[in-house]
Amino acid sequence: MAPSQDAGVAKVGNKDVWYDSDVEIQESIRKILELYSGIAPADILSHVHKVVEYAEIRDRLKQGQILVDLGCAFAQDIRQLVCDGVPAENLYGVELDERFVDLGYSLFLDREKLRPSFLVANVLEEHSDLDRLDGKVDVVYASQFFHLFG
Ligand SMILES: C[S@@+](CC[C@H](N)C(=O)[O-])C[C@H]1O[C@@H](n2cnc3c(N)ncnc32)[C@H](O)[C@@H]1O
Repeated sequence: MAPSQDAGVAKVGNKDVWYDSDVEIQESIRKILELYSGIAPADILSHVHKVVEYAEIRDRLKQGQILVDLGCAFAQDIRQLVCDGVPAENLYGVELDERFVDLGYSLFLDREKLRPSFLVANVLEEHSDLDRLDGKVDVVYASQFFHLFG
């Protein structure tokens, strides 16, 4: 997905987040976020987008939509969603290197309790295990992934 013409890009943690820079935030809300929450004026828009988009996607997944995390590695973002109430069966992680999936279980100590579907597959291959998700995915999440091919 490429950013639209009106998009800005901001760092959220160590990630780049795209957002529409023409969205207006009411002055009263902007003041609270700046003066009360202590957010720098230049960061307010990206902060609001981060909160709103995460909540919207989390709720869609809670209602049954399906997310696939491309190049999930340790799958910490899948764990975050499960921790926030998303059923694990609505989440798929795709990872080229099975050792990362295994290390994720070791890190989060959930080998026995968390069974999201991890697919060990190369997303660049025309046919792989990923084929079984054809037509079923509502949200494609790719964090720290596309830059690998830049
Ligand atoms: C930089 S890591 C990002 C991990 C995680 N998404 C995150 O945000 O922390 C990129 C991951 O993509 C995986 N990867 C690279 N090429 C891939 C491919 N063609 N198919 C599936 N996974 C791939 C790598 O093994 C690695 O675990």
